[in-house]
Amino acid sequence: MRRTRAIILLIVLSALASAVVGAGNWQSLKDDGLHDPSNPAIGVLQEPGAALSVLAPDGAGNKVDWVQSLQQGLIAPRPSLDGDKEPEIRETRVVMKNTYPMLYVTFPHKPHTQWMSCEACHDRIFVPQVDANPINMGKILEGEYCGLCHGAVSFPLTECNRCHNTNPASLGGESVVTGEGAQ
Ligand code: HEC
Ligand code: HEC
Ligand code: HEC
Repeated sequence: MRRTRAIILLIVLSALASAVVGAGNWQSLKDDGLHDPSNPAIGVLQEPGAALSVLAPDGAGNKVDWVQSLQQGLIAPRPSLDGDKEPEIRETRVVMKNTYPMLYVTFPHKPHTQWMSCEACHDRIFVPQVDANPINMGKILEGEYCGLCHGAVSFPLTECNRCHNTNPASLGGESVVTGEGAQ
């Protein structure tokens, strides 16, 4: 009983710790090792903390939950480079089951298609057919498949549970497609 409580406390504490670290942890431009601190123009640029602290917070990466920020209407990214195309939203989710001993991965089309068009992924990165792509974690870590974006421009690969989020007890066998529009 005591041990269970201690474990629960540890989990709560580590969640709190990451929440605290997550808030307001942006490097200033003069300390980021990228900008020249002696260049007077540095005072003209907006500090990352000023721009990002008003968005939905996250504990990892650049400390912004970009999907939440979009869904809360805090940002309104242009649907295409020239801004004239409305994005096509797809609602299906693909549950991928080749993940032992981790939880299954659910790939959600919706948040991805709120950010980008189908052509960003199909067919260059993924054939648009369930289980038609030999995805595995080694290739992802080497920057292929999901790893082309995650760890580069989207949330980092250290956030295992953001992708491995589906309990295997509920499903078994080959990948399945769920959500509105699934065949
Ligand atoms: C961006 C999403 C994403 C993240 C983050 C992620 N994974 Fe995966 N992982 C996948 C996908 C997709 C597969 C392949 C699933 C399939 O093909 O059925 C996979 C497969 C795996 C597998 C199965 C064996 C293998 O080699 O493919 C393991 C184990 C695994 N991941 C561990 C991890 C661990 C540990 C982390 C965190 C350090 C992690 N993953 C983070 C998406 C992710
Ligand atoms: C961020 C990348 C990405 C984007 C953008 C994307 N898809 Fe996919 N799509 C995937 C992945 C990953 C799979 C699963 C492939 C697998 O199981 O091997 C998939 C599977 C599919 C499938 C088969 C499963 C299903 O949902 O019925 C279809 C059809 C599909 N995509 C159509 C689309 C269309 C249409 C769009 C644009 C509206 C789109 N996709 C945008 C990554 C993407
Ligand atoms: C072409 C780029 C790209 C590829 C490829 C890609 N993603 Fe993403 N993904 C994004 C972007 C952009 C976001 C939204 C910004 C963020 O969360 O960092 C996102 C968000 C997500 C989210 C969070 C959804 C939410 O509601 O918070 C999950 C889960 C995810 N991706 C899983 C995957 C998996 C699994 C794969 C591979 C099967 C994959 N992604 C491939 C770009 C990509």
